[in-house]
Amino acid sequence: MTFEQMWADLHPVGRSSSSGGYFRQPFSSAERECLAWFLEEAHRRELRVESDGFGNVVAWWDPPAPSATPGVLTGSHLDSVLDGGAYDGPLGVVSSLAAIDLMRERGVTPTRPVGVGAFVEEEGSRFGLACLGSRLATGVMGADRAAALTDPDGVRLGDAWDAAGLDPTTGSDLLAGVGCFVELHVEQGRDLVERERAVGAASMIWPHGRYRFDFTGQANHAGTTRMEDRVDPMLTYAATALAAAEQAGLAGQRATFGRLEVAPNGTNAIPSRVTAWLDARSGTDEGLAALLATIEERAHDRAASDGTSLSVTPESVSGAVAFDDDLTARIVAGHDWPVIPTMAGHDAGILAAAGVPTAMLFVRNPTGISHSPEESAPMADCLAGVEALADTLERLAG
Ligand code: GLV
Ligand code: MN
Ligand code: MN
Repeated sequence: MTFEQMWADLHPVGRSSSSGGYFRQPFSSAERECLAWFLEEAHRRELRVESDGFGNVVAWWDPPAPSATPGVLTGSHLDSVLDGGAYDGPLGVVSSLAAIDLMRERGVTPTRPVGVGAFVEEEGSRFGLACLGSRLATGVMGADRAAALTDPDGVRLGDAWDAAGLDPTTGSDLLAGVGCFVELHVEQGRDLVERERAVGAASMIWPHGRYRFDFTGQANHAGTTRMEDRVDPMLTYAATALAAAEQAGLAGQRATFGRLEVAPNGTNAIPSRVTAWLDARSGTDEGLAALLATIEERAHDRAASDGTSLSVTPESVSGAVAFDDDLTARIVAGHDWPVIPTMAGHDAGILAAAGVPTAMLFVRNPTGISHSPEESAPMADCLAGVEALADTLERLAG
């Protein structure tokens, strides 16, 4: 099974015929189909599959004799954002399987286990919390708190686990035998394009957070309510979104309101409530805190003049993550791979923060577009990524 064949097999799974984007939300039929595909590929390669009570899976290529050295984990995730691209996540999983094939072709015998992992709900597109599977596997999030998370239809994660036949009380010891983690990922910017390189490695992940803004006003008639009599939370939200974009732009940071719920959501009614989710990112922890403080201040000022009220709830905040310098230096030695920061979150960031020596490899994305049906990577670069990952795993476990 070549990389191209595996890529073609996954191509239609969860793909929208109208947009060409992917809907592979955790525990949906499309995502379960991706998982079944992964298990079949693992079986085809006679890998030993381990799974945990949360939906995370690792397929191990064991050395011929038991090794006292903990394993090298690679892999990524199979879920997507809503209407996402084909590459964010699956590229790392498919490349990992192809890298094992390439190492076998090269006659490599591993001296320590090499695992291909697929972490569940990396995007937080269903239950709202990014890197949920790796947070649970590392223990930075408890199963009880996670079980109470709900999706937009009100389904509890606990019930989704049940329906998927998972038993979260069994927990996770998937990472017990992991000595280091290398995640390959499509680049989500144009750094490698500008540097004219097909492959790079990661230095750090920007601090980032998700914050829920609840704006409350007064529902009223869109025709009969004079403009000066309104208490319209949509206006407070709109002014806040503009302020966030302006502030982030001033300091080379990022601020995005990409999700909105409006009640009652009628064309001819002033809303009673607008809930909006801010995704904010910055190069430093202090920068992120300052960005949020400014956005909140401007939102409260606007709420005061609109007569609306506002509460802000941080739903998840991840600090700066520096990847393991020694591991990264070992991986890039002798290659021309630039070491670049990323503004995107990854399971690699969760494992690194939990103390697992971690590195990342990126594959060039010609447009830099990601979290979109337009996300792409040329096949030649994907194959260069497979080779880079095989070189890396051979260096760490050959
Ligand atoms: C994950 O891809 C994120 O950066 O939100
Ligand atoms: Mn993503
Ligand atoms: Mn990803």
